[in-house]
Amino acid sequence: MIILIFHVSLLVPEFVLPLLTTQIITYRDYLPKIIGPRAMRKYLPKYRSYNSSIDPSIKNAFATAAFRFGHGTIHAIVPRLNESYKEHHKFPNLLLRNSFFIPGKLIYQGGIDPFLRGLIKYPNKLMKQDIVLVSDLYDHLFENVSQVADDLASLNMQRGRDHGLPGNGECKVKYEVMQF
Ligand code: HEM
Repeated sequence: MIILIFHVSLLVPEFVLPLLTTQIITYRDYLPKIIGPRAMRKYLPKYRSYNSSIDPSIKNAFATAAFRFGHGTIHAIVPRLNESYKEHHKFPNLLLRNSFFIPGKLIYQGGIDPFLRGLIKYPNKLMKQDIVLVSDLYDHLFENVSQVADDLASLNMQRGRDHGLPGNGECKVKYEVMQF
């Protein structure tokens, strides 16, 4: 395996390797957990080769609404872990509401490793009917860097109206969401 990676790295320019890694993480590790094995088989079958007859565009309803499902997977705590995957004694966990637009916490406080360890160790927030979004995203969005907090839930809904999206029920029927 290591030899294979070494050979690949000789063939591809440096900037391509992170892209390949991202694709592997997205298609092998992330998407099957999000849409499940049946939808993977139906909508994302094994890649064979480039097919110029496939329309790569995405639906307005997906770009503007459905893809924002990710907002429901965000935790209120941003963990920062040391090399033993325990809370960092020098740079402890952060509240999401205090972390928006503060790259200094990443650059000057131990680099990106403590954050990446947190992402590796803890799963995403589970989407639940009683907690779709954490309050950091609707009552405290960007309040640490602006006079008034924003509200991601309202922005999401308003953006759907801006784009003239049909209602939730109509979308589910139209895009066959219910069958999964
Ligand atoms: C802390 C994490 C996140 C924050 C603070 C955040 C915040 C935002 C904000 C403020 C917008 C613009 C809202 C508007 O004015 O319409 C937005 C758009 C969006 N977000 Fe997030 N987001 C986060 C994570 C995610 C994740 C994990 C996903 C998907 C997996 C996601 C998907 C999207 C999409 C698809 C849009 C619309 C982009 C567009 O139409 O150009 N976001 N997000």
